Amino acid sequence: MITKINHIAIVAPDLDEAMGFWVEALGLPVSRVEDVPAEAVKVAFLPIGESNLEILQPTDESSGVARYLEKRGPGMHHICLEVDDIEAALAQLKAANVPLINDEPQSGHHNTRYAFIHPKGTGGVLVELYEVA
Ligand code: CO
Repeated sequence: MITKINHIAIVAPDLDEAMGFWVEALGLPVSRVEDVPAEAVKVAFLPIGESNLEILQPTDESSGVARYLEKRGPGMHHICLEVDDIEAALAQLKAANVPLINDEPQSGHHNTRYAFIHPKGTGGVLVELYEVA
């Protein structure tokens, strides 16, 4: 079962510059900024109610996020849906022949587990599923 939108991720070439809009002009708070070496990104988390905006800045030009930025430019990167059982969600999608980027859940921050659904199966939107521990 999908329980909420956990976050919406935006890719930007420069985190500080992106903050000029989201934080300074719009007034969103920043809960943390961290390096995620596994994904070669620096991420800022901006809480909005029960959800977050995540601003991603690639830190390595060979990363998937960097290639996305080069190809499609800055803007929306992915939407993340929180699920109560990621294995069940992936099984349901496999049964419906939806193409997945991650066939199995990956381990993330604070024991969360995540998997990405391929945009060719979703009408062009990169979708992340997220199970919070
Ligand atoms: Co995400």
